[in-house]
Amino acid sequence: MLISHSESHAGKKRALRPAVVLENVTKRFEDVVAVDNLSFWVEQGELFGLLGPNGAGKTTTIRMICGLLEPTAGEVWVFNFRQPRDRMAASKFIGYMPQHFSLYEDLTVYENMMFFASVYGVPYSVRGERIEKLIDRFLLTEFRDKLAGQLSGGTKRRLALATCLVHNPPLVILDEPTAGIDPHLRYLFWRFFEELRDEGVTLIVTTHYMDEAEFCEQLALMRSGHLIALGTPEEIKRSALRGELIRVTVRTSRLPTRAIANLRCVRSFELVSAGGGQATYVLLVEDAGRDLIEVLRGLEAQGVRVLSIEPVYISLEDAFLALTGGLAR
Ligand SMILES: Nc1ncnc2c1ncn2[C@@H]1O[C@H](COP(=O)(O)OP(=O)(O)OP(=O)(O)O)[C@@H](O)[C@H]1O
Ligand SMILES: [Mg+2]
Repeated sequence: MLISHSESHAGKKRALRPAVVLENVTKRFEDVVAVDNLSFWVEQGELFGLLGPNGAGKTTTIRMICGLLEPTAGEVWVFNFRQPRDRMAASKFIGYMPQHFSLYEDLTVYENMMFFASVYGVPYSVRGERIEKLIDRFLLTEFRDKLAGQLSGGTKRRLALATCLVHNPPLVILDEPTAGIDPHLRYLFWRFFEELRDEGVTLIVTTHYMDEAEFCEQLALMRSGHLIALGTPEEIKRSALRGELIRVTVRTSRLPTRAIANLRCVRSFELVSAGGGQATYVLLVEDAGRDLIEVLRGLEAQGVRVLSIEPVYISLEDAFLALTGGLAR
């Protein structure tokens, strides 16, 4: 397992208590271990992504954070509340959008929001104004008096997001908020999440989409109940491949294998293509930005003519594949 979370946080002064702490949390359902000895924390004001394939244990983890499931072992803390013991008190501080959220289909958009405001005990005097602001913010104005049951899937999803914010929670937990919605709305949702983060809200978001995970400051990658990586997207990519990649194309009549092997900064390399007097290699180095010049100089010094050289962009998907053994290392 690859953990860079604690390292990346170690240098920072932690003035605030983390919004969420999980310590050695396990959840069993009879013979299924849905979550296995999971530990991580989420800093206040962070946009934190929880990633993993179906059955990884994301929803189970989230339900334990919300106090809806009791861990079989370990501790879950939300601010100063121990979950699920302090679930009632903690719920005022949590906005939760379940994976299969339900709205009242025979109530209008406005009535749904009013209903959730009363459930969360939002004082009557501020309800109206707060709801109007959320309706405006989540582009629901034209649907204000429509029945929720008659809305499109994407509009329902915006309403679900708005309702879970009606009590101004400092921690917002969204379970697959973008599953099955179009790319335009997915993009818009991530802008909403970033806006909320910029206002100081802590967000935990689960997703299957690796491209979305790039928007998160910290990520936890889960598989089969286990944590397989924790850190910033950059840290996860670098650690998954144990370095960064450089692509270099050289002019050659003979493959310059030895010249490349002579380069001290190169940990390993692969020939990608060859022909027409050219050859392209991908090199694994520690830091592509820093080592690019060394590769260039080192090859030229050995009489190898470099035609092009560039760092290779690694996607989170590549990193995930490498971590799960699907990409040659
Ligand atoms: N109430 C339950 N009873 C028995 N097994 C359960 C229960 N809830 C979850 N599981 C099992 O726990 C494992 C993790 O499920 P979970 O729903 O947490 O995964 P997930 O990462 O949210 O998956 P998905 O991406 O499909 O939503 C699965 O094997 C699932 O079948
Ligand atoms: Mg789930």
